[in-house]
Amino acid sequence: METLIPTINRLQEVFLTLGAEIIQLPQIVVVGSQSSGKSSVLESLVGRDFLPRGSGIVTRRPLVLQLVNVPPLQERLKIENGKQTQICVKAEEWGTFLHCKNQIFTGFQEIRREIEAETERGSGDNKGISPEPIYLKIFSPKVLNLTLVDLPGITKVPVGDQPKDIEAQVQEMILSFISNPNCLILAVSPANSDLATSDALKLAREVDTDGRRTLLVVSKLDLMDAGTDALEVLLGRVIPVRLGIIGVVNRSQHDINTQKSLEDSMKDEQAFLQRHYPSLVSRAGSRYLAKTLSRLLMHHIRDCLPDLKTRVTVLSAQYQARLNSYGQPVEDHSATLLQIVTKFASDYCNTIEGTARHIQTSELCGGARICY
Ligand code: GDP
Ligand code: NA
Ligand code: MG
Repeated sequence: METLIPTINRLQEVFLTLGAEIIQLPQIVVVGSQSSGKSSVLESLVGRDFLPRGSGIVTRRPLVLQLVNVPPLQERLKIENGKQTQICVKAEEWGTFLHCKNQIFTGFQEIRREIEAETERGSGDNKGISPEPIYLKIFSPKVLNLTLVDLPGITKVPVGDQPKDIEAQVQEMILSFISNPNCLILAVSPANSDLATSDALKLAREVDTDGRRTLLVVSKLDLMDAGTDALEVLLGRVIPVRLGIIGVVNRSQHDINTQKSLEDSMKDEQAFLQRHYPSLVSRAGSRYLAKTLSRLLMHHIRDCLPDLKTRVTVLSAQYQARLNSYGQPVEDHSATLLQIVTKFASDYCNTIEGTARHIQTSELCGGARICY
């Protein structure tokens, strides 16, 4: 099943290269008020420190983050030696940006600095925001194949260079991502503020009225007032969320400042859950969140398959017709690309059919079902 997502990601890339309208593909988008912990949640999903985080407005442009699972370096080197033609990045994990395609970033510090620099290029250095996304790909043996989108938080009062209507602008930006029916919404709400006032859930409900694609993440479980806990919230007794409610503990600002590792943070998170929420320990925490997301995404993709297949077939037919009208093949870059897409589209249809069958079969065997 894991093979489906690279296929879809590749399709998206080909379409991007072609400048053709991009088929709307499933993505996971985080929404929430400013400093609710969105970037922290994404970071723990990736298992690497690379996103700018902090108090105040830090994320000021959408970041479209594509995680690509690759074999460990050792294995890739072996493959390369076997097939002399393979190009192999000599690093265990690395990142690339669409705005500087040929540069390979092997350090996560470097990646963070580039996100910061590109944020300033696009939205100035005084808290301005921009709807223009930054596209980042992370290749690693340690990631699940997922596409995630980090967004600026919902904010009420303009600061710095922000326009008077900052709240409306950010909301519009968020809505433009989450109104895509193909996206899973990760609504992040801090445990130390009332769920009934959650901006994240409110926005999510605007576009996902029956809650079929919204998952609630309750962050900052460690920051609740003494004598209170989030048990009722996590059990869905305050506001039920169809796809689930998952509590997490991310690193505090102090942890970030003292460079606490994500690994230690995950260990401490588990220990915290064991101590405070023993009955929920197997259904909470960052690792469980990652697993849940991966599963939801598969189900979501399966739901989109018939429609995607129709669109690919139509596009493929259109390209074929155009190719035919060109007569003899020419040594033209765009014609070659068209051929790639046509070929790819037919491969792709076969893959998704196979995968659809596989999902259906495993579901029949598996029993337990979630909404998707
Ligand atoms: P964003 O604005 O929603 O992207 O939030 P960030 O991820 O940048 O986090 C804002 C601040 O809250 C940072 O200083 C984080 O260290 C802190 N933070 C996020 N999640 C948690 C959490 O679960 N517990 C604690 N103690 N601090 C957190
Ligand atoms: Na923040
Ligand atoms: Mg952020």
